[in-house]
Amino acid sequence: MPGRSKAPGAAKVFKLSSNESPLGPSPKAIAAYKDAGKHLEDYPDGSATDLREAIGRMFGLDPDRIVCGAGSDDLLNLLGRAYLADGDEAIHTTHGFLVYPIVALGAGATPVVAPEKDHTANVDEILKRVTPRTKMVFLANPNNPTGTYVSFDEVKRLHKGLPSHVLLVIDAAYAEYVRKNDYEAGIELVATSENVVMTRTFSKIHGLAALRLGWMYGPAHVIDAINRIRGPFNVNLPAIAAGIAAIEDTAHQEYSREHNSKWLPWLIDEIGKLGLKVTPSVANFVLIHFTDEKIAAECNAFLMKRGLILRQVGAYKLPAALRMSVGTEEANRLVVKALADFLGKAA
Ligand SMILES: Cc1ncc(COP(=O)(O)O)c(C=O)c1O
Repeated sequence: MPGRSKAPGAAKVFKLSSNESPLGPSPKAIAAYKDAGKHLEDYPDGSATDLREAIGRMFGLDPDRIVCGAGSDDLLNLLGRAYLADGDEAIHTTHGFLVYPIVALGAGATPVVAPEKDHTANVDEILKRVTPRTKMVFLANPNNPTGTYVSFDEVKRLHKGLPSHVLLVIDAAYAEYVRKNDYEAGIELVATSENVVMTRTFSKIHGLAALRLGWMYGPAHVIDAINRIRGPFNVNLPAIAAGIAAIEDTAHQEYSREHNSKWLPWLIDEIGKLGLKVTPSVANFVLIHFTDEKIAAECNAFLMKRGLILRQVGAYKLPAALRMSVGTEEANRLVVKALADFLGKAA
């Protein structure tokens, strides 16, 4: 279920339920999108070559080892179709991104849940659950909805412990926001192994969620398999055009990152000062914990009346928590004020 987008009755609405960018896309991406509108009668380039080359230039990667998709969801689903079948097992963590069990079940495989520690993926728990049937391990790094991450050393240890027939899928949708020295999005591990892929998205820092655009970097044999089964035009022409402009506009990416680096700790601090527990996040959202499910639901309704749409995350086995995207300054301040009013405290 996607995040809600309507708050009936509220004069002004702030959608903070889907981890979208509060600053929107690069103006250059919007211009490229509009320009692409002049050519809607044409099929897109089915290989998205210019986009793959632009991504390759930006990250120093071979464009032949990149495949693009209609959002990273598309790529996760294609991986499931290519590598999972009846009787196989795919591991994800307790509060891992919900697309993973959906992908596994859709392919006839069994999702296997590895417990987390402090709302963080735990390498030992994942490795304990590997069996001869395991074909895939999904790791969101950072994870949604917790915002926590696993260090590069731990990801390497996870990879080392996996048999070679298991594909490690590192979903780095929020990589651009992370400011930790011990974090690596996955590029290095993909470059040096045959059973690791990394998925990325244009929906978050690039602010292009509406266009549905993602990419994956992987070993040649995996890229080949995905290219064989994907739709011939799985990425549309305006998305390709906007994606190239977005990936090249490093100044806009930095602007969005700076905004997040300023307001993420502010939210964690201010909400913490109200006496609510906030999971330490490295992404563009925070997970706020309440004493129980009823209070979380009441708070959600209270915020909704003020046009502040957060996300209840009961489906993620976190019924007593609300997830909030880092918003504009106005939205962030309004949420803290509303939480304080709800709790009967001064902000
Ligand atoms: C961890 C994670 N992976 C993947 C996605 C999907 O992103 P996309 O819009 O590229 O399909 C999301 C979206 O919220 C996410 O949180």
